[in-house]
Amino acid sequence: MSLHKQVRKVTTHVLNEMKLRGEKIAMLTAYDYSTARIIDQAKIDAILVGDSASNVMAGYDTTLPITLNDMIYHAASVVRGVSRALVIVDLPFGTYQGNSKEALTSAIRIMKETGAHAVKLEGGEEVIESVERILSAGIPVMGHLGLMPQSIHKFGTYVVRATKDDEAKKLVKDAHLLQEAGCFGIVVEKIPATLAKKVSSEIKIPIIGIGAGPHVDGQILVIHDMLGITQEFSPRFLRRYHNLNKEIKGAVKAYISDVRNLEFPNENEQY
Ligand code: KIV
Repeated sequence: MSLHKQVRKVTTHVLNEMKLRGEKIAMLTAYDYSTARIIDQAKIDAILVGDSASNVMAGYDTTLPITLNDMIYHAASVVRGVSRALVIVDLPFGTYQGNSKEALTSAIRIMKETGAHAVKLEGGEEVIESVERILSAGIPVMGHLGLMPQSIHKFGTYVVRATKDDEAKKLVKDAHLLQEAGCFGIVVEKIPATLAKKVSSEIKIPIIGIGAGPHVDGQILVIHDMLGITQEFSPRFLRRYHNLNKEIKGAVKAYISDVRNLEFPNENEQY
């Protein structure tokens, strides 16, 4: 008899069924084993090992420097902590835009070396060949439209995207292209709520928003932002559910004080 606990796992099909039932999908990012274990036990539907690891784990200003090896390290750690949620991994900058063969090689490395369930990449028409090639190997792909942090140097700012008609039309067209190619879902980042509503009603696959208002099929936040570990980043869309930065500092200050005043360890905390 298998010793594995029978847990109903979240698959891409489950996310599609949730959209059909009008049940909202809750996603968060994670980059390490311990955090992934906690949020999986809390029954998060899907975990994104985002290239935001470049910012919140490695301290870079942008998502551009993180490497495929770095992403594989983070993703393998997350997968070891998860028994239920769908785990999706970002293909980092420079690993899929060059050509579709390189994109497939990068996606295969992620699937083989991490045990994750799907990959995500940024862009529409420009990367459609890469999307199709990855899908042809049986690897589920999630798209990402709107604000695309890997293109920060093209746009120069992180302001809300697709407020103008031509950019909004391109976004809707790209969403259709990604759906037709076979993506199982699309993240839309920092776009007007009315546009996000139009996209999620026209498109059959789940649309997951971040800064895209309530009329989408699910929401995603970066865990360091929603827990209040990061303090400098405060866009309007971000709801902080905790002030972990303050809590951690308080605990560390109490520890320092106990060590300095010989209050730690006490007689029950020694052998
Ligand atoms: O890298 C990331 O964390 C993301 C989310 C913001 C969607 O792409």
